[in-house]
Amino acid sequence: MKRILFVCLGNICRSPAAEGVMRAKARERGVDLYIESAGTGAWHVGDPPDERMMKSAARRGYDLSHQRARKVAPADFYEFDFMLAMDLANHTDLLELAPPNRECDIRLFLDFAAGDIRETPDPYYGGVQGFEDVLDLIEEGAEGFLDYLEDESA
Ligand code: 4NP
Repeated sequence: MKRILFVCLGNICRSPAAEGVMRAKARERGVDLYIESAGTGAWHVGDPPDERMMKSAARRGYDLSHQRARKVAPADFYEFDFMLAMDLANHTDLLELAPPNRECDIRLFLDFAAGDIRETPDPYYGGVQGFEDVLDLIEEGAEGFLDYLEDESA
């Protein structure tokens, strides 16, 4: 079973949504994945996801309410097969934090999506539409990543 860690900045908007969406889509396809999420920053450690993200996700059938924010930990670089960064800054931060003998593959999540957009924009300071756009991108990324895993194991 592959172990996947989604990483954004605060771990209250984008990566919790990615965790919830990927869990649901993997279950739909019968793919067994272990999924968590974390932030590179510590401001929201212990908090549930942002209310606006929980509401937008719930309208699409994703329940994020049990998640609590945590910060990326050194052990994560050994315990996960993939760290999927939500934007380029998260990706760069992870590469800088990564120990040289790390075992996980640190990738930009949307590089697995079919479209050309590479970054999941931070919706925190914007309006409701920003959360919907993030969920659209995450749904595409999740389908693309599951296609990738299926091709790899074929
Ligand atoms: P996220 O969004 O990285 O998608 O969870 C953010 C949430 C909060 C903050 C930054 C980004 N913040 O600075 O508090």
